[in-house]
Amino acid sequence: MADWVRLCGVAEAPKVGAVMELEANGRGVCLANVGGELSALDNLCPHRQGPLGQGWIEGEAVVCPWHSWEFHAKTGVSIYPAGERVAVFPIRVEGEDVLVDIEG
Ligand code: FES
Repeated sequence: MADWVRLCGVAEAPKVGAVMELEANGRGVCLANVGGELSALDNLCPHRQGPLGQGWIEGEAVVCPWHSWEFHAKTGVSIYPAGERVAVFPIRVEGEDVLVDIEG
């Protein structure tokens, strides 16, 4: 069942090419802006739980700040190394708020 919760205000969301670490219902969320489109990923890198929201954007990928694993911002599928994935949460803008469905 969808469980939409407020992640942040639209005005606070990351600008194009930036990522941000946030929390929704006690769960860490990495909010990324690739080409003007926001996407929300699980903040914990599957490698050693690095904080993806403290990383950076390269192309369409979020890069983990600890050992540079890369995950596609929209799908969560890893670009480097192959065969890994992080959860991607549905996201929508409602009025001035960015909402996320952390149940996915
Ligand atoms: S913890 Fe993310 S790449 Fe190692």
